[in-house]
Amino acid sequence: MKSYQQVYNILVSERDYLSGEKIAESLNISRTAVWKAIQRLQQEGLIIDSIKNRGYKLIQGDLILPQEIEKRSPVVVQFKASTKSTQTDAKKAVEAGSAGDTLYLSTSQTAGRGRFHRPYFSPPQGGIYMSLHIKPNLPYDQLPAYTLLVAGAIYKAIKNLAMIDISIKWVNDIYLNQKKIAGILTEAVTSVETGLVTDIIIGVGLNFSIIDFPQDLKEKAGSLFPNGAPITRNDLISEIWKYFYETDHEELLHLYKQHSMVLGNEVSFKQGEEILSGKATNISDKGELQIELANGKKIWLNSGEISLTKW
Ligand code: BTN
Repeated sequence: MKSYQQVYNILVSERDYLSGEKIAESLNISRTAVWKAIQRLQQEGLIIDSIKNRGYKLIQGDLILPQEIEKRSPVVVQFKASTKSTQTDAKKAVEAGSAGDTLYLSTSQTAGRGRFHRPYFSPPQGGIYMSLHIKPNLPYDQLPAYTLLVAGAIYKAIKNLAMIDISIKWVNDIYLNQKKIAGILTEAVTSVETGLVTDIIIGVGLNFSIIDFPQDLKEKAGSLFPNGAPITRNDLISEIWKYFYETDHEELLHLYKQHSMVLGNEVSFKQGEEILSGKATNISDKGELQIELANGKKIWLNSGEISLTKW
């Protein structure tokens, strides 16, 4: 374990201020090393107060510990304190021919992106930014609906750890109290030679305990734990991927539909230049949304092309 991770473990188990000298002593490192560790923890989004002659105290935040996630879930973790985008990190790994079942994880992104190339707000405090690379090697039409499966796993993990019921907005948005708290972006790489989908990258951005959003997001975005978290990000990350790998697809799809905030409701969407509306009546195992239009006709919407404008 690295020094800053050890310092974190000490601070997290201490209620009062702890002097740099004491921390240095118990870890058998220098006071400069303690100071550097504190800097690193602050850089990773932790709020640590320091008072002259008293020392340091952890005020808010937790530290992502890749080894802990690896112990508690089936994924290998590639961690960076900050990155442009974990989606890009995973893509580079695909190009380099890396093994799958690897999670690219970071505490902040400088160029996070969502569906339809929209920017994704990724500040260094209280967020989770991660991209799972898997290697299905299947024809496109035999691929499971990964976005739905991951959304189902997110539901199950949050319910199990915190007893909170989130809602899912077709196809990839996770909501709590009418605000978006997470988004999923699934991208595929196909082999020109075999026509098979060789690699899939599933990106998840989750506002774990982000407090401050920019003006244009304030109305729309929220956090899972806006007032202090009873669990750590390591708990949630491990649980999401454990459920993704270990739960029957049928159960995850069932959870997705059960907690859909659009099924049974009137929705609007843009098709070409036209705004259409209808009642959302079903979601297929492939992730398409069935809409019953005013004239009674039923159509299927493909998530790759359409997103809802009203729901
Ligand atoms: C969306 O809401 O449209 C999807 C958002 C996906 C964001 C995640 S954060 C981790 C990964 N890296 C990115 O740049 N995007 C995804």
